[in-house]
Amino acid sequence: MKKFFLFACAVVMLAACAPKNEKMTTDENGFMDLARARFAVREYDQKPVEQEKIDSILEAGRLAPTAKNVQPQHIYVLQSPEAISKINELTHCAYHAPVVFLVCYDTDLAWTKDGESSGNMDCSIVGTHMMLEATELGLGTCWVKWFEPAEVASAFDLPANHKPSFLMPCGYAAEGVKPSDHHFSRKPLSETVTYK
Ligand SMILES: Cc1cc2nc3c(=O)[nH]c(=O)nc-3n(C[C@H](O)[C@H](O)[C@H](O)COP(=O)(O)O)c2cc1C
Repeated sequence: MKKFFLFACAVVMLAACAPKNEKMTTDENGFMDLARARFAVREYDQKPVEQEKIDSILEAGRLAPTAKNVQPQHIYVLQSPEAISKINELTHCAYHAPVVFLVCYDTDLAWTKDGESSGNMDCSIVGTHMMLEATELGLGTCWVKWFEPAEVASAFDLPANHKPSFLMPCGYAAEGVKPSDHHFSRKPLSETVTYK
């Protein structure tokens, strides 16, 4: 009886310690399915994005590696009606999403080698983490380069050392939104990889 009791306790403890996936997982196969599930969303529902999801997306970005670990990124979360209206006036690629991440880098901090700043590269890794976490949370995003950085910097009163790298509209995809044809068109590895 004592043995059975100890066995039952062990089973209960193991079950309690087992990792729980409380997120809305997109897959059974982990990262590759998550990467496949993401696509550029260009039409959004107006349902607000929950603060916990925004926090989680920002946290995913915070974990990204950066050159020399200087973490030069600075992310503006545009979500007030004024900010959203302003960004939609400045680019047609904000797509009236309820949240737009304006990802910048600090030109004073970003590591520079041979005159070339790693700022955009750092921001791209941060943004990729954010984008995939948004997908994991059931949200749509689009990477956006179609805007004038100087106009955006001036409209949002950014300090001179915060250089806009890209925009990322984010929100729940409007009903029925499907990936564009581009999403299904990827070159074979034989065209983009060379072993030496
Ligand atoms: C660096 C970069 C810049 C992009 N700029 C824009 C943009 O300004 N507007 C837009 O609608 N999509 C933009 N995209 C989205 C791409 O068009 C899209 O990711 C690509 O066609 C593949 O489609 P998929 O994301 O659905 O797989 C950009 C993507 C990247 C990576």
